Amino acid sequence: MFNSRLSQVGRMVKQLTRAGQFTSVTRAEYLQSPYNCYPWPVKHRPFSTTAADNSHEEGNEEKEGISVTFVDKYGEEKEIKVPIGMSMLEAAHQNDIELEGACEGSLACSTCHVIVMDVDYYNKLEEPLDEENDMLDLAFGLTETSRLGCQVIAKPELDGIRLALPAATRNFAVDGYVPKPH
Ligand code: FES
Repeated sequence: MFNSRLSQVGRMVKQLTRAGQFTSVTRAEYLQSPYNCYPWPVKHRPFSTTAADNSHEEGNEEKEGISVTFVDKYGEEKEIKVPIGMSMLEAAHQNDIELEGACEGSLACSTCHVIVMDVDYYNKLEEPLDEENDMLDLAFGLTETSRLGCQVIAKPELDGIRLALPAATRNFAVDGYVPKPH
């Protein structure tokens, strides 16, 4: 008799669990139940009165910035956090990464040349301006995923991007090249 009751209760528990009804019982309903035999004092019962809130995690990326890895010509990697809205050139300078940037981001050189190592990330970047393409044409070791570091701006989708620094950059002053005025 006792065993058959027990198996009946077991079946009911399984059915309720499958139907998800155990998870929909509210704290108030539970406390009002005449069958409530929870062994802990009310204040220690493991109910949550707040809904799951992940917004602080999303906000963290905004505050801390995205993760960017620079890989130098020797294959040495350095991972840094770059605040949203900051250029990769500025971020490199703030973190002692050797990325020259002779014209300080005014699109008049190619010394901030970086190579995006993953084409998926490259495709997430804004289209280059004509001026950037003109400067890239003069860059040493140009590749299909080359960009100018001063024009790559941190945004959440770029979290995890890896940027290779070319083996050399073409410095107009050193090469004796002087861009013609327009
Ligand atoms: Fe000169 Fe980027 S620093 S074009």
